[in-house]
This record gives sequence, C-alpha cells and structure tokens, in this order.
Amino acid sequence: MRPVQRSLLPDHATVEPDGSMAIGGCRIDDLAAEFGTPLFVYDEAQLRARCRAAADTFGAGRAIYATKAFLCRAMARIAYDEGMLLDVASGGELAVALAADVPADACVMHGNNKSFDELRTGITAGVRRIVVDSFDELDRLDVLHGEGVRTPGGASPSVLLRITPGVHAHTHEFIATGQDDSKFGFNLGNGDALRAVGRATDSPSVDLVGLHCHIGSNVFEASSFAKAAEVMAGFAVPLDLPELVLGGGLGVAYVDGEEAPTISQWGSVLLDACTALGVRSAVSVEPGRAIAAAAAITVYTVGTVKRIPDVRTYVAVDGGMSDNPRPVLYGSGYETFLTRAVDAERPLVARVVGKHCESGDVLAFEASLPDDVVVGDLLAMPVTGAYGHSMGSNYNKIARPPVVFVADGQSRLVVRRETVDDLLATDVG
Ligand code: LLP
Repeated sequence: MRPVQRSLLPDHATVEPDGSMAIGGCRIDDLAAEFGTPLFVYDEAQLRARCRAAADTFGAGRAIYATKAFLCRAMARIAYDEGMLLDVASGGELAVALAADVPADACVMHGNNKSFDELRTGITAGVRRIVVDSFDELDRLDVLHGEGVRTPGGASPSVLLRITPGVHAHTHEFIATGQDDSKFGFNLGNGDALRAVGRATDSPSVDLVGLHCHIGSNVFEASSFAKAAEVMAGFAVPLDLPELVLGGGLGVAYVDGEEAPTISQWGSVLLDACTALGVRSAVSVEPGRAIAAAAAITVYTVGTVKRIPDVRTYVAVDGGMSDNPRPVLYGSGYETFLTRAVDAERPLVARVVGKHCESGDVLAFEASLPDDVVVGDLLAMPVTGAYGHSMGSNYNKIARPPVVFVADGQSRLVVRRETVDDLLATDVG
C-alpha cells in the first residue's frame, strides 16, 4: 500500500529532511517527548482558516460552529475570533463557551431534551437563539415564562423550531424513507411542524424568528443539501420567517481515495439552491466536522506487535476506544502511518488496537503500515480532530489525552493530560 495520502494530513504538515513529520513547524517526535502519548495535535492555522472560510462563505453571524465536534476553551475562542457563532448542545457546552469569554449572544442552544436548568441558564445568560425541539420543550418554556424568567434585555427568548424535513442524507446517498423516525424535531409530514409554528407564533413565552433542520452527518454530496433545502423551502418560504438554519453535516475525507466538497463548494450549492427556491430568510449553517476533523492527528506509541502467522498482525498502541471511539461506534475507517517515515510504503496489513480490556477495542481494522514497525514507534491517525476527543471516555480508568495546538513553530498545550487525581475527583465515598 502506498504512503499515506498527503491530502489527509493537516494543511501545515511537512516532512523533515530525515523523513519524519512536523506540523506547523513542530516535529511530532519532539511533541511526543514533551507531552507524552496518546496526544492530539491540532494545526491551529488550519482550524482558523476553516472557521474563516465558513464565516466568509455564509456571512457574518451565519456560520455556526457545532462545538460537539471538538470543544475546549481555546477552540471556542478560535471559532468566535474567526467570525463564527457557536452551536452548544448542552449546558456543559454553553458553560465552556462562556468560560472562553465567548458572549452568550454568539451561542445558539440546541438539544432534543433540554432541562429546565439548561433553558433557564440559556435564557438568563442571553443566548442568541434557542432551537426548540419538541412540544414538551415549548411547555417548559411556558413554565419558565410564568416564573418570570427573561433574557437580560427583559424579553422572551428568540427561538427557532427544529423541523424534521422527512429526508435523511446518508454518506454518499440520499434516501427518502425512514426519515420521519427520528427523536429530533417537529415532523413535517404529520403536521407537527405546522402546529409548532402556530403555537410558537401565538405564544408570549417565545419569539419565533426562524426554522432549523439538520439532515445528517458526514454527507459527501453537496447536492443532498440542495435537496433538503428544497423540502425545507417548500415549508419555510410561505411562512417568511427571518431565519433558516440548514444544519451541519458536511463530510470530510477520512481515508485514501475519499473526496468531500470544500466549505465554499458546499456554500455555493446551498446558497444557490436557496436563492433559486425563493428563500428570503437569512440562511445559516452549523458545520462541526468540516471545521475540526482534518486539522488534527492523534499520536500513539506502539507497545506490542503480535504477529500470528496465517491469521493477522496486531499492533497495540497506548490509547484506543477511549480517545477515538468512532471505529468502534460506527465502524469508521482511518489511515495510519509512522511519524518517523511519512512517505514510507505501507505493505503490512495489521489491526491497530488499543489497550482496553476487550477485543472490540479497535482503532483501525485493516491498517496499512510499514513492515518495519517496532515497539516504541510513534503511530499517527490523521483526520481525528472531530468526534474523537469530544467523545472520549475514561473507560478502564484511562486518563484522557492532552491536546496541543501548533502554529508557526510554536506549540501550546490547551488541554492537559488527565491525572489519577482527575480520575478520583468525583468519588465522594
Ligand atoms: N447541527 C446539529 C443540529 C447537529 O446535530 C450536528 C451533528 C451538527 C450541527 C454538526 O454536524 P457535522 O457538521 O459535524 O457533521 N458523532 C458522530 C457525529 C454526530 C453528529 C451529530 N450532530 C460522528 O462521529 O460521526
């Protein structure tokens, strides 16, 4: 198998004269020596550029970073500084955004089952919009209104209604069945969406300013978004509300040979479609993966190489399903390479596994690696910047890895490695 495809590496990845990898002018072996492994390394300039591309493509206040993809204070700050708003899907995500000094007015609050506390906090903090997901949530907002809960300006919260448009985009395809079977939003097909619009319009508890939909995640065909826009426009145009959010979902290339639209290609398809459909509302989007995924690699140290003749080779690293759970959760594929030999051929087919106590703990099912992989090598997985660290766990009481941002020859630790004290911090018995 050929060397790892350069386009899967962060924008500012380079190969040093000795064949090893650097990002943003920082050698990965130096970073591993300083911060240990496993380690998430993000190309900060790339994060900034992707946020800026989204803000430039969709316009000020219309590109909303889905923080669930990857969130820490430094990331919240970057997204905001580069012109994006922040989509927060829980009280916790809102708290991190606010702790990064992102104004509440730059935060859009999501969640299919927001608690009273989350709603109260969001309203009193003054979040920009609450995306209302259900009739039960409208009930809760009525109760809070009755209790006198108001925005800092003394008003009822501005809300969008999350509509389930009856279409669902899958990677590489667009299907029109099964989509009404969703825990999210007000279904268009059975009239719930229209009933919700009627109720929100008549309610003093909320100020209805628009509609929202999200058709799926890791969608590769820009045309799928245009098709969803068509369905939404059919509902939204006659209502003529000021805002329409068409969600996130832009796919990224994870493995050799995959190709995804750029943010600006996505933008032109979506915005052209909306114009053609007569949408007069301000159109916003909420990309997460497309901002963060390709900016990071995860660096591991190889701890064992087990060759079972005629069966398989297992390469075990010092992390696993607790730091990159996507392979286990979704069967997702990732590339692997050795940071000391970025351009080396990778003829060895091996299963890259973690250190957790179960056979399912797999990072790459059919990984390609150089034949001379040995214990102590630094093994990297590119395109792990989204839904890796953010979905990490402490399974087996393994401390979560640190996150380092690199740019212009400088590295900065933005999330430190957890310690045993962190693992015990919530035990009270
Ligand atoms: N907006 C809403 C309302 C969402 O539900 C999501 C993702 C996004 C925006 C951002 O979507 P993105 O641009 O990142 O695709 N853990 C899964 C992905 C779950 C996405 C859930 N919602 C994964 O690792 O593939």
